[in-house]
Formats: sequence, structure tokens, C-alpha cells
Amino acid sequence: MEKIIIKGGKPLKGTIEISGMKNAALPILIGSILTEDKCEIENLPDIDDVRITLSILSQMGAVIEENWQENTVTIDTTKIKCGSAPSELVRQMRASYYIAGAELGRFGRTSVGCPGGCDFGERPIDQHLKAFEAIGAFVDSSNGLIEGEAPGGIHNTEFCFDINTVGGTINLMLAAVKAPGLTVIENAAREPHIVDLANFLNTCGANISGAGTDTIKIKGVEKLYGCTYTIIPDMIEAGTFMVAAAATKGDVVIDNIIPKHLESITQKLRQIGVEVIENDESVEVKYRDGLKAISLRALPYPGFPTDMQPQMCTLMCLADKGLSIITDGVYNNRFKYVTQLKKMGADIHINERSAIVSGHGKLSGSSVKAVDLRAGAAMIIAGLAADGVTEIEDIHHIERGYSDIVGKLRGVGADILKADEV
Ligand code: EPU
Repeated sequence: MEKIIIKGGKPLKGTIEISGMKNAALPILIGSILTEDKCEIENLPDIDDVRITLSILSQMGAVIEENWQENTVTIDTTKIKCGSAPSELVRQMRASYYIAGAELGRFGRTSVGCPGGCDFGERPIDQHLKAFEAIGAFVDSSNGLIEGEAPGGIHNTEFCFDINTVGGTINLMLAAVKAPGLTVIENAAREPHIVDLANFLNTCGANISGAGTDTIKIKGVEKLYGCTYTIIPDMIEAGTFMVAAAATKGDVVIDNIIPKHLESITQKLRQIGVEVIENDESVEVKYRDGLKAISLRALPYPGFPTDMQPQMCTLMCLADKGLSIITDGVYNNRFKYVTQLKKMGADIHINERSAIVSGHGKLSGSSVKAVDLRAGAAMIIAGLAADGVTEIEDIHHIERGYSDIVGKLRGVGADILKADEV
């Protein structure tokens, strides 16, 4: 089993290039099913979730050419067979449930395994199923499969989500893009990857407006065509390195980003006392003199992202003194990593959906596990800032979503390696 080993205490200095966004790349790759044509997708992150998605699509009959030198993939979905996604791969990730929306949109029926993904307690898909029903599909997920069929074909709808859901919004967009007439999605999620998916589908010939607001309007089109499309930069990868720069008392330029997507993270770092200088396509994060305790609540975009909650909780362990309250307003159980941080000397109490963190200015190296993707990123940040050596196990979680995180951190001076490199 591979491990990441870090000798902590070195301030990060230099420039890090950000890769394409995982949570945009996955629905866009799967969205290519709707085109029955050849798409060229650029700025794809080289991460395990993308590789698994490409394997799934290939086993469904897509013809794929990968060029990882250029982070570009061409994908021809003309011969995709409905219902042929391999369950053992589907179970390895969350975004595989977008196959249901894409199959309904293209074939008017679907059969795909229920998804996996990070364990934050219960992650129901009731909103996805309700949305599919609203556009004319009978769906059932009781046998470990999402199975659906729209006997009269997919039709348009006006649908209001009961809660804010990224995956539900994306799945309805995929399923409705070719439904005749006007589909209106209310209480839609507003994340940048929703906008990126809409831009991709529109480049393929769809007619989607309002993405990025809470009302998305889709005028159904008969056909979508192949296109060339460039994925947006990954705001969570960028945010993770911003926090790593602050935690190590460093000075790092995070390049190839859209600063607007990072506003909630930038604002919190400034409250903590870290200098953040915004440029057109980069931000520079500079440690000044100390880290102040703050409180935050993770919320849907444009609120502070839940996918940055574990990293920020780690930073607050390093606050010079004082209490921080970190609340997760999206998931009810995203604090499993706290047990691992405590092994490094963190002083954290969990109270329902909040972590109450007492900052002591330091952490100590230890052996810890990456319990999920962002939790793993938080362990890396903790290890970079800690006194002594930190060994992180179960790094497959990290490799699902971060492209060459070890190489990128080494490039800015971190003493970090994978165990098989020893
Ligand atoms: N929810 C329901 N019913 C549903 C759908 C969601 O109750 O039918 C609940 C969830 O349990 C959760 C909340 O609604 O409490 C929000 O879930 P959402 O559907 O927005 O999340 P998701 O689509 O499953 C995506 C990202 C996650 C990210 C969340 C929130 C992908 C593949 N995953 O998940 O990313 O945390 O949005 O922004 O896009 C990550 O990258 O580390 C990650 C976990």
C-alpha cells in the first residue's frame, strides 16, 4: 500500500499550476453521451475519478483517445449502449450517477448501478429520482440499480428542488436537454461546475440559460453535436493549496485560476490574517504574522464550500489561540477526519454539525489515514505544517481528486514523497 510521507515545517514558496476541475470534468465527460458524436475535452485533470469515468464510457462502447501529455481526450459516443455501465466501476465514484441523466436524455431509459463516493453518512438520491419522474420517467432504485423508463419519451417540466443539490441539478439538466418544449429548474444549484456543464452543452448545440442562478431554463433541442471544450480550473484544488500556503507560513502564487470562484475562501483567509493578492488568473497567498481564530459555515455556492471545510478546520488548529467554530451546512457527517487530526495534537470537539476548534499554533507529526478525498488533503496540510514526520495511509482517496499533489507540493519546496519512491 502506498503512503505519503511528509517532513513538516518547511514554508511553501513558489508557483503552483491548477488543473481542470474534477466536478466539472466528470459531468461533461458523461454529458458527451448525449451528443452521439465526437467531443474533444481539454484541460482534463489526470486523476483517478476521470480515469474511472473514461473506463466506464469505454466499456459502454465509446471510442476514446487519451493524450495525457496535453490533458486532452477525444471521445466518440456514437456507439454507446444503454444500460452497459459496469457496476464495479460505477460503485467506485459518486458522479457515475450522471449516467442515469445522460441515458434518459439520449435513450429515454436508463439502467445504472447506484453510486459510491466519499462517506459523509447518508447521501440519498431522492431529489434525482423525483426530477426524473417530473420529466416522464418511471424510476426505481430499490435493487442497487437506478432503473428508469419514460414510455412516452422524456417531456418538459417545471421542477423545484426541495433542497439545493449539485448532483440533482446536473442530472436534470442532462435528462432534459433534449426534452421538447421549455424545462424550468427552480432552486437550482449555482456552482461554477453547473455553469461549465451548461456552457459545454450549449457549445454542443443545447439551449440552456440561467446556469449560475437558481433558475435554469432549458429549451429542448432535437440533436446535440460534438465540440471542443476546455474545462474550468479546479477551485477546490486551488483553495487547498491556498490553505497549505497559509498553514506553512509560506508565500505561494496559485496560477491558472478564476479568482471569482475563490472569493469565499479568499475572504476567510483575509479574516484569519493571511494576505491574498488577486490577479487576473492567479492569487498570491502570503503568511503575515499569525493566524486568527474565525468561525465559518459551509454552504452551497457562493457560500464557503463544504469541500474546503476539512482543510480550513486544519488551518484553525494552527491558529495562535482562540476558538473557531466550523459548521457544515451541507453534510451532516463530514467530520470523520477529526479523529485523525487529534492524533496530531488537534484540540477539536464535535457538536452535531459543528467542530469546535481550539487553536494552539502547532500540530505534531503522526501516522494518520486519509478517510476521504478532502480529509486526505487536510492531512497533507496538517503534515506540511506539523513538527516532525507524518505518514498518511489510504492515499487512494486523495488520488481520486488531486492531480500529482505530491509533485506540485514538492515544486514549491515541500519535503513530501510517496512511500514507493523511498
Ligand atoms: N441530498 C439529498 N437528496 C438528494 C441529493 C442530495 O438529501 O437527492 C443531500 C446530500 O445528502 C447533501 C446535500 O443534499 O447533504 C447536498 O448534496 P449534493 O447533491 O449537492 O452533493 P453531490 O452532488 O452528491 C457534489 C460534489 C461533492 C460536493 C457536493 C456539494 C461531485 C461529484 N460531487 O456532490 O464533491 O461536496 O456536490 O458541493 O460533484 C468532493 O469533490 O470532495 C465532493 C464530495
